[in-house]
Amino acid sequence: KGDPRLEAISRAIRVVPHFPKPGLSLSSGDRRRRPRFCFFFFFFFFLILCGCWFLGIMFQDITTLLLDHKAFKDTVEIFVDRYRDMDISVVAGVEARGFMFGPSIALAIGAKFVPLRKPRKLPGEVISEEYVLEYGVDCLQMHVGAVQPGERAIVIDDLVATGGTLSAAIKLLERAGAEVVECGCVIGLPETKGQCRLNGKPLYILVGPR
Ligand code: PRP
Repeated sequence: KGDPRLEAISRAIRVVPHFPKPGLSLSSGDRRRRPRFCFFFFFFFFLILCGCWFLGIMFQDITTLLLDHKAFKDTVEIFVDRYRDMDISVVAGVEARGFMFGPSIALAIGAKFVPLRKPRKLPGEVISEEYVLEYGVDCLQMHVGAVQPGERAIVIDDLVATGGTLSAAIKLLERAGAEVVECGCVIGLPETKGQCRLNGKPLYILVGPR
């Protein structure tokens, strides 16, 4: 907070409404005759649905941040300044957008980069951790041997919402014996506050949603 770079970073993030799924779709109702009060009831209901639609998914697109050299560089530098002297030897990035920030941070602080991937992407022996999404479950995998017991790790991703993904990442690293020092994300959604499932691990966020 108070860092002028953060405002430019926030501005560089594009918001794409109703991506990847459209908001609530408003299907046309049937045309049976109803008493007049029903018209007002449905009109009121329609207004609420419209409100939900406008407040629907607002995709935070960090590809525009990557296009802005200064904002991208500042983003990486803020993380590097924070983690440089924390004796971190592992930067774990979450597929896919954690891969866009993690390797630069790892190189700058002298750590290795460990990709945490979606299932069936890593060719070697893996350990897996499932996590619950809004609709269904997903899974992250890490190569066995990528991390040694006792190593100090951070997890990097573009965005945290429920914290389910980061929580799975933390569990993977801890199962390999690493000590997870912190999770770092460019964007934190409002639901992150108080409800984030990070097993007590600190979370470092640069900006809120646009
Ligand atoms: C997004 C985002 C985070 C995750 C955050 O990834 O990049 O990894 O969701 O959500 P959470 O805090 O509620 O777990 P997504 O699952 O869309 O995968 P992708 O990056 O491969 O598109």
